[in-house]
Amino acid sequence: MEQDRNPMPRIGDLAPEFTAKTTQGDIHFPDDYKGKWVIFFSHPADFTPVCTTEFMTFANMNEEFQSLNTQLVGLSVDGLYSHIAWLMTIRDKIEYKGMKNIDVQFPLIDDISMKVSKLYGMLQPNESETAAVRAVFVIDPMGKIRAMIYYPLSLGRNIQEIKRILIALQTADSYNVAMPAEWQPGDEVIIPPAGSCGTAKDRMDKKEDPTMKCYDWFFCTKLLSADEVMKVVKKK
Ligand code: BEZ
Repeated sequence: MEQDRNPMPRIGDLAPEFTAKTTQGDIHFPDDYKGKWVIFFSHPADFTPVCTTEFMTFANMNEEFQSLNTQLVGLSVDGLYSHIAWLMTIRDKIEYKGMKNIDVQFPLIDDISMKVSKLYGMLQPNESETAAVRAVFVIDPMGKIRAMIYYPLSLGRNIQEIKRILIALQTADSYNVAMPAEWQPGDEVIIPPAGSCGTAKDRMDKKEDPTMKCYDWFFCTKLLSADEVMKVVKKK
C-alpha cells in the first residue's frame, strides 16, 4: 500500500537508527558498531532454500569479514523463535557445497513488525507484499551508507562481490583512488582526474609521475600492489 512505502535511504546518508531483538541479544543500530564497517542485509524468509545458501556462505566467510573490520547483521520479517529454529537446523542438519555444521554467529534481527525493513526500503511490494527483498547496505565506521545492492527473491547474492566492495571502499578511502570495472586487489587503480589544464598536459607528457599510465588526459591509472591494499584493509 502506498502509505506503507518509505523513502529509501541513499548512498551518503547516515544509516537510520533503530533498536531491535536479534539472535545475539538486543542491538542499537548503528551505534553498537561504531568504528567498524557493517554489512546489513535482509532476506525474504527463514526456512527457504536460497536464503539458507546465503546464510551458510555468509557464516562460512564470517572470519574473512571480521578480518576486514566488518560486522555482518542479517534481518528478515520472521520472529526470533523462527530465526533460532532455522539457524539450529542449518547447524545441525544442512550440508551444502562442502559446508556443514555452520554456526551463524552474527546477529539476525527479528523484524516481525516490519519496522526496520520499512525504514531501510527493504520491502518492495511489486516484488513481494509480505517479504523483504535481498537488500545489502554497506555502512562505514562513521555510520554512513557507502553502497547499496538489491537482488530479487529468486537470486542468491554473490558474497565474494560484497567482500570486494568492502576491500575496494577501504582502499579508495586510504589511497584517494577509484577502482575500475572488475577491479581486484593488485590491479591498477584510477587516480583523481586532472584539476587543471597544466596537470592534464603534464600527465600526458608523463611529467607528473612516470609510473602513472594515462589512457587519455582524464583517465590515468597507477599500480597498487595487493600487499599495499591488504596493508590498509587488514583488521584495525
Ligand atoms: C528462498 O530463499 O529460497 C526464497 C525465498 C522467498 C521466495 C523465493 C525463494
